[in-house]
Amino acid sequence: MSKKIIITIDGWSSCGKSTLAKQLAKKLGYVYVDSGAMYRAITLYFLRNHVDWTDKKEVNAALKEIHLDFRPNEQTSASEMYLNDENVEYVIRDLVIAEKVSDIAAIKEVRTFAVAQQQKMGTKKGVVMDGRDIGTVVFPKAELKIFMTADNAVRVERRFKEMYEKNPNVTIEEVKSNLEMRDYIDSHREVSPLKKADDALVLDNTNLTPAEQLNKALSWVKEKIKTK
Ligand code: CDP
Repeated sequence: MSKKIIITIDGWSSCGKSTLAKQLAKKLGYVYVDSGAMYRAITLYFLRNHVDWTDKKEVNAALKEIHLDFRPNEQTSASEMYLNDENVEYVIRDLVIAEKVSDIAAIKEVRTFAVAQQQKMGTKKGVVMDGRDIGTVVFPKAELKIFMTADNAVRVERRFKEMYEKNPNVTIEEVKSNLEMRDYIDSHREVSPLKKADDALVLDNTNLTPAEQLNKALSWVKEKIKTK
């Protein structure tokens, strides 16, 4: 597949977007960008520095101090989130961050800051980016847009397993209420709410294995490259 395209993957919390995005990037030799990691890293900075995010001046001043970049892990070659030269890939997955990230991601100035950087990453195409507004706002002209969904109970179970491995104190109720809260805030916010782009293809992976979801998405990639 020689022609490079932009692939966007949007959808609800923990429905397998990053798994599919990584699979596609690997298979196609594309760059994978986890836009959610950027909002999580900004949240980490705000919490650590006690930024009052209801105050626009404080938000703008804080954003000026934030430098985000993705760097490959030398062992796994997976790209990891760096905040001001510190690897924060692990710490941003904590529930403490998940509890605040949707409030911070709803702030207009925060979105403008993150979206400008995301758009730069797509100038050479050959990118798979996942998030909430990638097909609607970041790359509205992307060649392939996927909107992912899965049953709520399945999403909760998957995220619980992931978090439990890192922290056995986490409960399934906490995970469930965090996913519900984020889905609500993300889809009801004023700026760039989570919604399916009109031209996005829906992928419900409730009953699909990772291999099956990859095959489905690859068949769409082939079609888009043919008709490009
Ligand atoms: O992995 P999960 O689907 O649970 O979330 P994530 O992709 O790490 O995103 C964390 C949060 O960042 C979301 O709940 C949104 O509030 C925000 N986000 C966003 O607003 N826009 C994006 N493009 C990506 C994430």
